[in-house]
Amino acid sequence: MTIATAATGFATRVVPAHDVQLAFSSQLDDGSFEAQGADTQWIADSRKELRLNRCIGLPTETVYGLAANALDEDAVRSIYAAKSRPSDNPLIVHVSSMRMLRALYHLPASGTTRPFLGTANAAPEDAGAGLAEPEGMDARLREAEDRDRAQGGDGVWPEIPRVYHEAIRRFWPGPLTIVLPRPPCIPMIVLGGHGDTVAFRFPAHPVARAAISACGLPLAAPSANASGRPSPTTAAHVLHDLRGRLPLIVDAGTCDVGVESTVLDAFSPNSRAGGQLSPCILRPGGVTLEQLALLEGAAWRRLRVYRRDFVSAELELNPTTPGMKYRHYAPSAPVHVLVPQAARPDAEMAQLVQQQIGVLAGERGARRIGVVAVAAAGRPFDAPPGCALCVHRVADARELAHCIFALLRSLDETEHVDAILVQGVGEANEGMAVMNRLTKAASFHVLC
Ligand code: TXA
Ligand code: MG
Repeated sequence: MTIATAATGFATRVVPAHDVQLAFSSQLDDGSFEAQGADTQWIADSRKELRLNRCIGLPTETVYGLAANALDEDAVRSIYAAKSRPSDNPLIVHVSSMRMLRALYHLPASGTTRPFLGTANAAPEDAGAGLAEPEGMDARLREAEDRDRAQGGDGVWPEIPRVYHEAIRRFWPGPLTIVLPRPPCIPMIVLGGHGDTVAFRFPAHPVARAAISACGLPLAAPSANASGRPSPTTAAHVLHDLRGRLPLIVDAGTCDVGVESTVLDAFSPNSRAGGQLSPCILRPGGVTLEQLALLEGAAWRRLRVYRRDFVSAELELNPTTPGMKYRHYAPSAPVHVLVPQAARPDAEMAQLVQQQIGVLAGERGARRIGVVAVAAAGRPFDAPPGCALCVHRVADARELAHCIFALLRSLDETEHVDAILVQGVGEANEGMAVMNRLTKAASFHVLC
């Protein structure tokens, strides 16, 4: 494992994508789109940078991503360098249509060509030398469908394991990442140098979709934070962490979901237990366990969550599940999380928060405590003598997920607290993803 750092020196530009309406020609199959509005310059700007194999900051519905051409080793290397990410931590590859995903399985191995996965928007005029989709891609895709039918299949997306089809129909585009076999054109650097699978995602954010379609390339994109810091949910967060390390950030405001995508594995050997398919959630995220468990088929009733239901020595060694090997999501101030062992009434939780404020101010000597409380309203907390409180209230787990990374950042950087206390939530629905991030950010947990 190595950690490279980027040469700084870019004058990072932030281009707005606020006033823009994007209409896509189909939900899943084709990524073509039409754009209207005052803010469309980012389309040409992002296409240009991505085709020059540089990485850019791009909004998605989960968090901002640091995106670059997934087919080019140097482009991917620049991602690791820009955020000082350990080189063995694999990246998610983002596509904007099922056609693009399928086509990857029909391209030659990396290093031989720089394919151009045409949509009507992926104008070739500023394409670099050699950037062209191989001849006859549509015919190759049709042949694969025919072969599948001849073997008794239904001819739908024959390159993609069947087990994922319903999940794709139900949750793509959206905050779900799936582990697939590695297409030969995806260089090993995307996989962190190990394994034979690639995690793919089809984001729902119209700006991300359009940027991918406009450059005609699949984009490798981790969250656009400096490694180890809370993930960015605004363009300002990206600028704060990575200014000078990338040429462009597309600003489309605050991300809706606020935590990253769910990483689902129903393909690798990890997804088999006792000889039967037993899909696993490697990272809880924007699509909940409860939503996945509703998919058709007995396997989805055997859905397991990594660390809660099983562990694997191999996964612990290779950081294919985030946060297992490296520090994650942490601001500089220590984070303390109250983990409720059972549902308790709001008033009781508030009392426990108050008690912990006392412990932080007393035993730990905190003088400025950031408090994130989960209750729309409530009695104000009492500040211990000589101690100031910066209290933020959120209504429920969904709102906590939406704003937790931004709160961790602002308590740290703007409110300059010396300790952060977050009232945890139950593991149901959005609670699982947000508690996963919080327990990783926390220096230690407070059980109650
Ligand atoms: O919502 C998201 O997923 C955001 C946005 C930008 O799309 N991206 C994101 O990327 O969170 P990142 O790099 O911060 O987290 C990706 C995680 C890796 O840490 C790794 O654990 C997992 O996805 N991953 C990548 N490739 C994998 C693979 N082949 N098998 C299992 N897990 C994989
Ligand atoms: Mg990340």
